[in-house]
Amino acid sequence: MTQSPGQGQALDNLLTESRTFPPSDEFAAQANAQPALYEEAKADREAFWAKQAERLHWDTKWTQVLDWSDAPFAKWFVGGKLNVAYNCVDRHVESGHGDQVAIHWEGEPGDSRAITYGELQREVSKAANALTSLGIGAEDRVAIYMPMIPEAIFAMLACARVGAMHSVVFGGFSAEALRTRIEDSACRLVITTDGQYRRGTPAPLKPAVDEAVAGAPSVEKVIVVKRTDTEVAWMDKDVWWHELVDSQSDQHTPEAFDAEHPLFILYTSGTTGKPKGILHTSGGYLTQASYTQHHVFDLKPDTDVYWCTADIGWVTGHSYIVYGPLSNRVTQVVYEGTPNTPHEGRHWEIVQKYGVSIYYTAPTLIRTFMKWGAEIPAKFDLSSLRVLGSVGEPINPEAWIWYRENVGGGKAPIVDTWWQTETGAIMISPLPGVVSTKPGSAQRPLPGIGAKVVNDEGVEVPHGGGGYLVLDEPWPSMLRGIWGDEERYRETYWSRFAEQGFYFAGDGAKYDDDGDIWLLGRVDDVMNVSGHRISTTEVESALVSHPTVAEAAVVGASDATTGQGIVAFVILRGGAGSDAGGADAIKRLRDHVAKEIGPIAKPRQIMVVPELPKTRSGKIMRRLLRDVAENRAVGDVTTLADSSVMDLISAGLQSGKSED
Ligand code: PRX
Repeated sequence: MTQSPGQGQALDNLLTESRTFPPSDEFAAQANAQPALYEEAKADREAFWAKQAERLHWDTKWTQVLDWSDAPFAKWFVGGKLNVAYNCVDRHVESGHGDQVAIHWEGEPGDSRAITYGELQREVSKAANALTSLGIGAEDRVAIYMPMIPEAIFAMLACARVGAMHSVVFGGFSAEALRTRIEDSACRLVITTDGQYRRGTPAPLKPAVDEAVAGAPSVEKVIVVKRTDTEVAWMDKDVWWHELVDSQSDQHTPEAFDAEHPLFILYTSGTTGKPKGILHTSGGYLTQASYTQHHVFDLKPDTDVYWCTADIGWVTGHSYIVYGPLSNRVTQVVYEGTPNTPHEGRHWEIVQKYGVSIYYTAPTLIRTFMKWGAEIPAKFDLSSLRVLGSVGEPINPEAWIWYRENVGGGKAPIVDTWWQTETGAIMISPLPGVVSTKPGSAQRPLPGIGAKVVNDEGVEVPHGGGGYLVLDEPWPSMLRGIWGDEERYRETYWSRFAEQGFYFAGDGAKYDDDGDIWLLGRVDDVMNVSGHRISTTEVESALVSHPTVAEAAVVGASDATTGQGIVAFVILRGGAGSDAGGADAIKRLRDHVAKEIGPIAKPRQIMVVPELPKTRSGKIMRRLLRDVAENRAVGDVTTLADSSVMDLISAGLQSGKSED
């Protein structure tokens, strides 16, 4: 954020912002979503969802829309059968759109590739045949650890096509993070690349896979796509993609799977150190991904060019790069690289080049663009943009307004979409063309979705009140559990409001006077860094695994660019040596966390302290540490076992060796 006094004033004004931005008449008239959609869903929720499921091709129609008798394990479209990949690819070719571009892929170094639906069908078929040749079939788990290249999408769709479950692990995660995820779901196959482009230079990726696979005996084969042409060590299990896949037939007949056939696992952070393998299934997931893509983004398959800037390593990449867009026959841009390579206008250059009309990104990136300056997007022709989206964290009104003015030409509606890895698809968002948007508010549950803000007792708060966000009706793309841990699934999401049967999302929220929902961030110990969920426990465990650290406590402190920044407080071990708190040692600790979890989890700051504030039961009082991290007066310390601890911490910090 620019810190000029004028802008500071604007921020203050915007925080009490109550302006709304109604859609233009032209937009409203042509919008996919019309106001009646809310009424229709309210009148008969199940009939509404059945109608949405008709958007897909079913080999066998369902006999029951929802079976909630085994709650919290839902079954949607019971008895129905479909093939997810067929729905995303083949049916568009069969309807005469084989020559339509599905993916305009833009590589970071400037190479590009246009892939039509016809070509996508051939590539996915070859990859599916390759999986079958390795004996990979229904319900096998396949880890995908790749940069944003077309083969990553082919690989996901090939898994879906043969009924195998993909587990995509973000390419920025470390070998150890990859290993634990492979191990948790016993993946038989890993698909990766030799390297990936990062800010203009090729960086190796395969060594992390080699390290992970060495400790993961379930893995039988590793398929390697050549991307950067970097030399790689070659292991017994390795096979090149271009040798295995390119020699396969490009014909493949997809089999129809049950609506509840598992589609993928995606790991996300929880409040304990162990990541949760969120399980999604086929028919309900695809129905909601497809429905939301069409209505929330107002997608017109014949004319729009859509771009979601997420990575396929996160759920946004699954639902809004792969399954939602492709099931709607979109033409989309997929970009491999970072937004400032080779210059800070790269995104706008791409928007101009392809005439992007719908652009979906994260608040952290919008704030980065703000920092880089409005003169950068101003140099490009962005007039093709007609819908903008935001996801991953609350968007502050100042960023929202900046986005609208400098990217959306002061007219494109912004959809602030609230959802989670667990929800599978968008749950709360204004419908463009129907709802007057408000800067900073995700506003209202989509038609067919039940969400409420409740108090401690589970009673809905009045307009103007705040509390917990809950989902009070099952929804088609809901998670079907945590891989291998039924108890944790019940405990994590369904125990807080067990009596009412609500799903508790972990987020705080409030209603404004109009009853619109404003998200207030996580209420648990999960941090949100650049729109990615990172658990405090995982970072603490990583720190404590370093030989110099005895104990660690981690908090998310507000950060102007990344939403939250990670601030760590560590107690050093007795024998750690006199220089263990020095700048070099702190740097080593930060690098250690990057190695254990990935660079995204690197603490912004590490403070060496003599003690940590704890309650009598030994629970770390992160609230107090957050006060320190955010340079505030320390709050109520009466529940501390030893109230002098905070004085000790403050004294320690003043000794000057706290900053990285
Ligand atoms: O805290 C909410 C925040 O991101 C969490 C979900 O993170 P994840 O599963 O990684 O999925 C991110 C992409 C869907 C939520 O519990 N969050 C997500 N979208 C918003 C948001 N917070 C406020 N406004 C949003 N639009």
